[in-house]
Amino acid sequence: TITLKVALLGAGTVGAEVARILTQDAAQLQARSGAALELSAVVVRDTAADRGPHIPRELVSSDAEAAIDGADLVIELMGGLEPASTYIRRALSRGASVVTGNKALLAEQGPELFALAAENGAELSFEAAVAGAIPILRPLAESLAGDTVTKVMGIVNGSTNFILDKMDREGADLEAVMAEASALGYLEADPSADVEGHDAAAKAALLATLAFGSGFSIDQVHTEGITAVTAADVEAARAADQVIKLLAVVERSEAGVLMRVHPTLISREHPLAAVHGAFNAVFVEAQNAGELMFYGPGAGGAPTASAVMGDLVMAARHRLAGSAEPTRLAAEPIAALPVQDA
Ligand code: NDP
Ligand code: HSE
Repeated sequence: TITLKVALLGAGTVGAEVARILTQDAAQLQARSGAALELSAVVVRDTAADRGPHIPRELVSSDAEAAIDGADLVIELMGGLEPASTYIRRALSRGASVVTGNKALLAEQGPELFALAAENGAELSFEAAVAGAIPILRPLAESLAGDTVTKVMGIVNGSTNFILDKMDREGADLEAVMAEASALGYLEADPSADVEGHDAAAKAALLATLAFGSGFSIDQVHTEGITAVTAADVEAARAADQVIKLLAVVERSEAGVLMRVHPTLISREHPLAAVHGAFNAVFVEAQNAGELMFYGPGAGGAPTASAVMGDLVMAARHRLAGSAEPTRLAAEPIAALPVQDA
């Protein structure tokens, strides 16, 4: 049996679930990937904390460099730009396969990191970065690679959907619902990323990057969050048979690409109005396929870990086959598409 060593950088909401699945489902993961996936190191800040039965104490450290250098596969679930970026670069430079859910980092440095992966014949995968458990990046980059995607639109932030949904159903105000969203593991370490729309904007940039095969960054997305949405706004929408949802929209036309995130009034008849809790839903329009809809849990430990594990199994398979897939963009650079003002 071939063993591949897995370093886990971060064991919080998502990382802890990844460790659980690696332990509980070891036999199935081996059957699926062709290799035994052995957790070789777990990197956290607080090395004294009890991490439960799936994270043996002797694997826990704060020494990320040693963890990375001893691994074939590196899972980055710390979040934030630094030190995550430095660690991912170190892993890719060594030819390790990297799996991450870090949309904030990829929406700023994606093309650079994809290039580094390609230079080193390494693989960087990130299905967990957009819409939690929902397979959306691979379908855009692979299944629809022979089509022309013209629009991607939907709810891509689970915590703000949870908050808006509670406001709608219970008449609660935003502040009151934040603590609950946090306890359920839906919010980012810095919750302003969610409520000010930056998390959805990072995801919009990634969706556009994969849908249109050309690099886009978060600062190109017109962004407005939900902090200004009041209980009275939600009630007024309800009275008009509408609901407020935070939508991300990326569209491609002759004029270029338009990317925006903002609260939107939606008719209660629209399928997006039926997306409750921390669920996400994404509509994709493509010239030949027509309209597709993707729906499922958009945040939380186990759902996000599901997407991480899918990437991990694929990365393990590719390593065994000697065929790392370094990027999910086009094989040849696509002419840069102009970005339109919102
Ligand atoms: P958490 O804040 O729950 O966990 C972060 C983990 O990383 C903790 O174990 C923390 O250590 C560790 N960590 C943070 N900074 C450092 C550092 N400088 N050095 C060493 N360890 C560090 O985050 P989540 O699990 O919620 O999210 C992880 C990533 O996944 C983020 O990029 C997030 O955007 C993304 N993501 C999260 C989703 C979710 O629903 N939660 C969904 C999709 C993506 P310690 O435990 O000691 O504090
Ligand atoms: N904070 C994010 C959200 C986690 O609420 O959608 C999933 O990416």
